[in-house]
Amino acid sequence: AILILDFGSQTTQLIARRVREFNVYSEIRPCTVSLDEIRAFGPKGIILSGGPASVYDEEAPRIPVEIFDMGIPVLGICYGMQLMAHLLGGLVERSFKREYGPAELRVLSTEDLFYGLDSNRKYRVWMSHGDRIEVLPPDFISIAESENSPYAAMRHKERPLFGVQFHPEVVHTEIGREVLSNFVFRICGCEPTWTMESFIETTVREIREMVSSEDRVVCALSGGIDSTVTALLVHRAIGDRLVPIFVNNGVLRKNEPEEVLSLMEGLGLKVHYVDASQRFLERLQGVTDPEKKRRIIGYTFIEVFEEEARKIGNVKWLAQGTLYPDVIESVSFRGPSATIKTHHNVGGLPERMQLKLIEPLRELFKDEVREIARELGLPKKVIWRQPFPGPGLAIRILGEVTEERLRILREADAIVTEEMLKSGWYYKVWQSFAVLVPVKTVGVMGDYRTYEHVIAIRCVESQDAMTADWVRLPYELLARLSNRIINEVQGVNRVVYDISSKPPATIEWE
Ligand code: XMP
Repeated sequence: AILILDFGSQTTQLIARRVREFNVYSEIRPCTVSLDEIRAFGPKGIILSGGPASVYDEEAPRIPVEIFDMGIPVLGICYGMQLMAHLLGGLVERSFKREYGPAELRVLSTEDLFYGLDSNRKYRVWMSHGDRIEVLPPDFISIAESENSPYAAMRHKERPLFGVQFHPEVVHTEIGREVLSNFVFRICGCEPTWTMESFIETTVREIREMVSSEDRVVCALSGGIDSTVTALLVHRAIGDRLVPIFVNNGVLRKNEPEEVLSLMEGLGLKVHYVDASQRFLERLQGVTDPEKKRRIIGYTFIEVFEEEARKIGNVKWLAQGTLYPDVIESVSFRGPSATIKTHHNVGGLPERMQLKLIEPLRELFKDEVREIARELGLPKKVIWRQPFPGPGLAIRILGEVTEERLRILREADAIVTEEMLKSGWYYKVWQSFAVLVPVKTVGVMGDYRTYEHVIAIRCVESQDAMTADWVRLPYELLARLSNRIINEVQGVNRVVYDISSKPPATIEWE
């Protein structure tokens, strides 16, 4: 395996992804990790990520210099390279000319790190640095140069220590794959044995060994990919001692409970279904504040879930679909980011019920989970299902959640989803949904004046929900959505399309 030490770069996760794409396991740890932890992990190679700091900053993150004496190959990227140079006796200085964006790299040595490349041509690489190395540490040589960096890459004469000033993990670096692959295979001697098939096998075995034969495991099913894959892996390991709990919180989409239950049945899971919609809706009565809605739905969910788990009996474990990006303790130099919206999950439950956690996906990225889902035979509509918030339609009904307003939004939302699927747009976008706006407007139907609700359609593209842009849907599709919603959903006489990006807007309206 390859260990990646994170110095806070935006692209650290990409390094891990690239290495895993070679079927070599990799993990990210904060740069504050101890030498003992590194030894315990037993990496075949270490990659030092980039980061926003300068080695001369007072609070610049450091690592013990002994890392370079462990006999393990090390590759420093950008800040990682500068830190390596600094710690081993080189000189790093603020560069007169900063280098951001593309640069042309000339390779000086086509051994090891640059094996297979041509020293007679220039390669486009991606740079992003203010500091640069002025004097190499003793016994290091330059193995590549760019216009602004005479030492765009370096290596130790004898020991397997390497540094690159550019970012091999980003797609704009045309030789990125080669450089990382040379490091992982040629220099570290890794074998490409990490596959999703082997992952499933090992995980199932581990769960089976962990859970004793009397214990039961519960998990909360949502019908989404993470909770479904989690349930399937645990089910493979211990069969029906896994009890997946599906809670109807009253703010699900049209036909959602039926669809989730029949899907799970098809997958061989025996689901414990609870219709708690009345309890949720009663508590939501009169509530208009979005954060308050989230809190109510959050704690009511935990309450219901706990009651049900107690009914099942002998429950010792909670299985959760936590993914790797949620786990990584990233190094932040900006302090904790402000809470814009609180996201709800079963937080707090494991402590209260003294449940131990099973998180079979905690080492995986989303696309790896999708690959497992494919291996496990999940249908496309689960694998590529759009994200749906835990508080459901409650945060898409602006203002109070009532039965009547739920009916309107459900119908409108079903039309949006149906048309998006039919036109093929559903799978091309990040999310597409309807929002019930808390205003009434005047319209005319036949000879009558109407005074009815407005539905907004929101459709965005995004990589990770952090930023998003509204999708330029074809006018014909928008026209069809508008026509159908106004004609088929009683109580709606106007449809608008949301053309705001995130930031400054958010994806959801609440
Ligand atoms: P925003 O509206 O913050 O949404 O741009 C970003 C992503 O998060 C989803 N979202 C939530 N998911 N509980 C959830 O589980 C929530 O309270 C919640 N609020 C927003 C939203 O659908 C989008 O994918």
